[in-house]
Amino acid sequence: AVLILLGPPGAGKGTQARLLEDKFGLVQLSTGDLLRAAVAAGTAAGKQAKAVMEAGELVSDEIVIAILRDRLAEPDVAKGVILDGFPRTTVQAEALDTLLAETGQQINAAISLEVDDAAMVARISGRYTCGGCGEGYHDQFKTPKVAGVCDKCGGTEMQRRADDTAETVASRLEAYHAQTAPLIAYYERKGVLKRVDAMLAIDAVAAQMQDTTAAAL
Ligand code: AP5
Ligand code: ZN
Repeated sequence: AVLILLGPPGAGKGTQARLLEDKFGLVQLSTGDLLRAAVAAGTAAGKQAKAVMEAGELVSDEIVIAILRDRLAEPDVAKGVILDGFPRTTVQAEALDTLLAETGQQINAAISLEVDDAAMVARISGRYTCGGCGEGYHDQFKTPKVAGVCDKCGGTEMQRRADDTAETVASRLEAYHAQTAPLIAYYERKGVLKRVDAMLAIDAVAAQMQDTTAAAL
């Protein structure tokens, strides 16, 4: 199974992907996470991606497609994937179609998380993540039961992303509208597009995501 999550930065793609992963036994595959791992590991791709990501622009299709192709070849993703943050350009969408055709797979659904730009700055600037397990939190909208302690793994090393600044959010939103939003029409033409109101609270969005996913699998 292949699910695609489309939506601007801060829409809740990562948050919802993790919930679907648990519920449906799929593997979340975030190109943002893969790129941040490459940056941390200091690989050649990571070195090229670092400055681009900090500026809030898109990393080259070539690098991203290569990283995704490698990850899709690993055995654990055979049960099905949730693509979180990929594809982000028409070139990436076409590359994905080619990759899936080679392995005889199909896209079950491309779910568009629909939100207002204005809400995204607050979501992104309040975000932090557990360094131990990757669980996402928010200063206002999703706090752990005990402050500073991860609900999932008990870890206490909370991290904030280098690109989660007010200036960078503006360029990330711009990149989304110019390069990624056209994919909504691309998947609509393929007949796999589903829309979800992602302005609601996390639980209410999760309920819509579950219904949509269950119907598409
Ligand atoms: P990436 O890591 O993909 O970041 P992004 O798309 O900007 O998305 P985010 O992770 O910021 O947001 P999200 O939608 O996952 O929201 P989240 O669930 O965390 O990409 C980073 C960079 O890498 C890009 O700028 C680019 O440079 C590069 N890159 C990655 N993929 C690429 C590609 N394919 N091609 C080229 N370059 C690529 O939620 C945000 C916050 O809000 C959290 O704190 C959460 O708790 C909270 N929240 C979530 N849902 C709700 C809700 N319903 N109500 C209130 N709060 C909520
Ligand atoms: Zn944790």
